[in-house]
Amino acid sequence: MTASSLASSFASEPAPSPGSAPGGRMGTSGPGRLLELDDLDVSYARRGHAPVRAVIGASLSVEAGEIVGLVGESGCGKSTLGRAAVGLVPPSAGEVRYRGERVETLGRAARSPELRSLQMVFQDPYASLNPRRRVGRQIADAIRLGTGAKLDDEAATRRVAALLERVGLSAAVAHRFPHEFSGGQCQRIAIARVLATEPSCVVADEPISALDASAQAQIANLLAGIVAESGLGMLFISHDLSVVRKIADRTVVMYFGRIVETGATEAVWSQPAHPYTRALIGAIPRPGAGSALPSELPGDVPDPARPPSGCRFHPRCPEVMERCRTEDPVAIEVGPGWQSVCFRSQPGQAAVK
Ligand SMILES: Nc1ncnc2c1ncn2[C@@H]1O[C@H](COP(=O)(O)OP(=O)(O)OP(=O)(O)O)[C@@H](O)[C@H]1O
Ligand code: SF4
Ligand SMILES: [Mg+2]
Repeated sequence: MTASSLASSFASEPAPSPGSAPGGRMGTSGPGRLLELDDLDVSYARRGHAPVRAVIGASLSVEAGEIVGLVGESGCGKSTLGRAAVGLVPPSAGEVRYRGERVETLGRAARSPELRSLQMVFQDPYASLNPRRRVGRQIADAIRLGTGAKLDDEAATRRVAALLERVGLSAAVAHRFPHEFSGGQCQRIAIARVLATEPSCVVADEPISALDASAQAQIANLLAGIVAESGLGMLFISHDLSVVRKIADRTVVMYFGRIVETGATEAVWSQPAHPYTRALIGAIPRPGAGSALPSELPGDVPDPARPPSGCRFHPRCPEVMERCRTEDPVAIEVGPGWQSVCFRSQPGQAAVK
């Protein structure tokens, strides 16, 4: 399935896309949360090989009006987690809930209209739009199919114009085709198309990484402005640490399928509790050389087919202890709403620093 057809399925019937926690799990769960991942596992079957466990025991939540930034090296499972969050890939264990309702995998069961307001922005804006349909028509389709609104042409034109202006484009571009726009403009159109469905929660998977530097900053600011203004919740997946630091209220750090640290962005960045978070931040080239994730941290990236025993980070961890090689650490509440999955983390340690 292409990103374009996936994106269409999001805006069309039957539905869109899509502490030491109990049992040592990361994240929280409860009333008021928009999106909740609860002990989520996602595996990919491979012919003739053991399945790849791309996401293991991931728990996180996204509340209205907040941006949760998800970071980690390439291949750690960010996209898999994001796609499972909107029902594009099935969990092999655990559960995804949106406003308390279980998110079924797209195509497996009829979706409730409630789930139309859970949407996704993709990395490649060109692939997420239909190349043969004028952009205004695509946004109007999303209004009708995403919200169920029965608009006449005049009302649709007005609403499309307002959406284009909301994402910083002129209403006059509605008659153009996607190939007539730059990457940044195209991503604005893709965002307008998602906004047309009146989402309450958006999973944005690397929405800026295919763009040039100035468009990256503009689109990140646009998304942050939309969240602040509309109060929707956003899971923002990015390998650009500086952007996550700038716009995310909370940061979630993933390593090799597992969430290893989560907490308020400034806390995690100023006093990272997990050795992997420290390694990530420490490996950022500086000064002024940008702050994308390093392509590789020191040490070998494990083979997904043969994950290390014990703590998955132990072969690369500068603070490894004997027990790390055999035992799997659980989440420790290092501060309020701030958790680290490491044997060296102590309950409440952040508060005494
Ligand atoms: N369709 C698939 N079939 C089999 N394995 C897959 C599939 N998609 C992803 N994987 C594997 O799952 C793991 C996680 O991949 P994923 O794309 O979620 O990582 P990512 O963190 O988004 O990486 P990137 O930063 O490069 O986008 C990787 O080992 C990847 O090779
Ligand atoms: S549990 Fe051990 S190997 Fe894993 S991050 Fe902590 S110190 Fe390092
Ligand atoms: Mg990815």
